[in-house]
Amino acid sequence: MMQDWFEEAKLGIFVHWGAYAVGCRGGESWPLVSGTVSYDDYLEEAKRFDASEYDPAAWVDLFRRAGARYAVLTTKHHDGVTLFPTRHGSPSLPELAGVGDLVEPFVDALRDAGLRVGLYYSHTDWYSLDHLEVITGLSRDELREMRKRPVTLSKIWQADQANDRSGDEHLRKAWDRFLAFHEAQLVEILERYHPVDLIWFDVMLDRKGYTFPVHHLREVIHGINPNTVINSRLGEAGDYETPEQFVPVRRPDGPWELCMTVHNTWSYTGKEEGYKSAYQLLTMFCECLGMGGNMLLNVGPDAHGRLPPQQTALLEAIGRWTSKHAEAIYGTVAGLPLGYAYHFSSMNKAKDVIYLYVAHVPKETTSIKGIRNNLERVTVLGDGAACSWQRVGGAPWLNVPGTLFIEVPKASLDPDVTVLKIELDGPLDLYSGEGVEIDIN
Ligand code: GLC
Repeated sequence: MMQDWFEEAKLGIFVHWGAYAVGCRGGESWPLVSGTVSYDDYLEEAKRFDASEYDPAAWVDLFRRAGARYAVLTTKHHDGVTLFPTRHGSPSLPELAGVGDLVEPFVDALRDAGLRVGLYYSHTDWYSLDHLEVITGLSRDELREMRKRPVTLSKIWQADQANDRSGDEHLRKAWDRFLAFHEAQLVEILERYHPVDLIWFDVMLDRKGYTFPVHHLREVIHGINPNTVINSRLGEAGDYETPEQFVPVRRPDGPWELCMTVHNTWSYTGKEEGYKSAYQLLTMFCECLGMGGNMLLNVGPDAHGRLPPQQTALLEAIGRWTSKHAEAIYGTVAGLPLGYAYHFSSMNKAKDVIYLYVAHVPKETTSIKGIRNNLERVTVLGDGAACSWQRVGGAPWLNVPGTLFIEVPKASLDPDVTVLKIELDGPLDLYSGEGVEIDIN
C-alpha cells in the first residue's frame, strides 16, 4: 500500500549487483539471452564473484550522504541467480562463490542508517526451465542443450509468441510449477528480510494464457507485511508508476518514481566513459520533484563489491546539493504547472511556499507568472540572500496577476541548480483564466 514515507523520500539509490558484474558486459543479465554468453559459462564466471571488498555500511553511508532515504538491491535479476541462499533450487552467489548472504548485511546497514529497505526481484527467470519452456515453446532437453552455447533466446521467444499455446496441458503444468516456485521464493525474501518497506519487481515475461496472478501476489505480500510498497511492475496491482531512463514529459497520475542510471547501463562495466554529469542528474531530479515524483538513481558495483570512483564522486556531488537544499526536496509536492515559469518548481505541503529550481544563469532576472498572492519574501536557499522582485503587467481590476520578475544575486548562484524560496501570503492562488478572455495555455 502506498506509504507517506515513499512519497516524502524523493531520492533512492538502486544497486544492480549480481553475477553479471564478473563479465563486465553491461546490460545486467541480458547477454544471456542476446547470444553473447552461454548459461553454463555465465555460472562458471559467477564463481569468481568474490565480494571481497563488500562493505555495505560504507555504501549505505555514501547513499545517506547523497541524500537518499531508501535503497533497492537486486536480490535476483533475470538470470535467476540469487544474492541470498535460497531454499528453492536456483543457483545463488552464496553457493556458487561461497560469499555468504549478500542481502542481509545490506538490509542491516540500511536499517542502522535509518534508510528504508527496498528489494528488487525479477519475475523473469532464465534459470527456470519451467519458465523458459512456456516462453520459448522449446522442450526441456532442447533448453538444457542450449545452456552449453550462446543462443539468442529472445528472438526465439519473440517468434513463438505468434503461436497460440494456451491450451497445451504440458505447458500448463510447467507454468503452474513456475508460479509456485516464484511465489515461494518471493515469500522467502519477504520473510527472511522482514519488514521489507518496498518490493521492486521487474520484467514480467509472460504470454497468452500464461500470466502472473498479480492480485494474488499483492495479497501474499500484504499478508506478510501490509505496509510493503509495491512498484508498478506487478502490473495493475502495483502502487506507483516506474518510468525508466526518461523523465516523463507530462506528470504521471498518482505517485511515481523515475529510475535512472548514472552510467549508460545498470550494471558494472569497468568503463569510464558514458557517465552523466552531476548537473544533468540534478536537473532531471528537479524535474521529478517538480512533477511530484521520486528519483531512483542506480549504481553498479564490481564483483569485489567496489563502487566505481566516478559513481562515488557523482553521489558525493549530489549530496552537496541535496544537503544544501533539503527543505526544497523532502516532503515537497508538485509545483507550478509548466507554462507558469521557466523552471520546474515544487511546493511545501501547505502550498504557501514555492521552491523554484533555477538550472540556468538568469541573464537579467527570472520570472514566474499567474501568482495572485502577494509575495512575502524571496530568498536563495543556502545562503539566505534576499532577492528583489517586480510585478509587471497584469490587470488588477480583473484579478489578472501579471508576471513576477525576480532578481537573483549573482554571488548566490549555485554551481548546479539554484533554488529560490518564494514565500506567499497564503496558500497558492493560481490564475487560471476563468472569467477573462485570456488564453494562458
Ligand atoms: C530494465 C532492464 C533490467 C533492469 C531494469 C531496471 O527493465 O531490463 O535489466 O534491471 O530495467 O529498471
